[in-house]
Amino acid sequence: MDDRSPRHVDRLTVGGGVTLAIEESGRGHPVLLIHGFPLDRTIWRHQIDHLHGFHCIAPDLRGMGTSDCPTGGYSIASYAEDLAAVLDRVGHARASICGLSMGGYIALEFVRQFRSRVSALVLMDTRTGADTEEGRQGRDRMAERARQEGVGPIVEELMDKLLGAESRSKTETVVEPLRRMMRATPLVGFLGALAAMRDRRGYAEVLETLAGIPTLVVVGEEDRLTPPSLAEALAAAVPGARLMVVPNAGHLVPMEQPETTTGILGEFLRSVKPTS
Ligand code: MLT
Repeated sequence: MDDRSPRHVDRLTVGGGVTLAIEESGRGHPVLLIHGFPLDRTIWRHQIDHLHGFHCIAPDLRGMGTSDCPTGGYSIASYAEDLAAVLDRVGHARASICGLSMGGYIALEFVRQFRSRVSALVLMDTRTGADTEEGRQGRDRMAERARQEGVGPIVEELMDKLLGAESRSKTETVVEPLRRMMRATPLVGFLGALAAMRDRRGYAEVLETLAGIPTLVVVGEEDRLTPPSLAEALAAAVPGARLMVVPNAGHLVPMEQPETTTGILGEFLRSVKPTS
């Protein structure tokens, strides 16, 4: 037996009386795992179960997974504020912050608001730029379609875009769990996240404040939404940042190549010896 404390899920209350489902496992330096859109904490299943030597904290963001789905309060800033409240509730002043895609936007916002609470940063399959005008219009079209048809048809279109070629044949372990997870996203949370992403700021200036925060950028080799060229530019803009390109993965590296992702995360965090 190792240092793992059994994984368990709690409900913690954050701002406005919203309760979030938080999965925790392990002991040691805290690592906050932030999922993307329209996903939930279970994208981190392998990391929660196998990232040895760390206290993994994986919340469902408001409006996704089994967290509360309030009618309002959706912005990248409020998601980050929710997560600061989560760290308070679980008793950590500082943590390493790891965010995937929309979770990466939230991680960068977390740095912007709570820099002194960040021991190390991992940005996965994400970008720093705000949406372009065309991108914002695309969010509005998706939102309108979700209101008319529900999230199901959009999920079917997203499936192919999110996954790499090999993952698209992993029916039991990737495709079906992903489909179920996305289809379970409540409409209000889905729309809230779309608006939050549409209205988010750019984070280029946050990159300039990252000196002193060990940073790792991870990207799937076949990521079509945030491709390796973006990840290379992102890593190049952060002094001392490391870049890892994960073969045979698209936009969802922790699900598509779980062992590799857990290995990369563990090696990075152990090497930078983050302090709590
Ligand atoms: C995500 O995976 O979180 C989203 O694709 C990000 C986005 O749409 O900008």
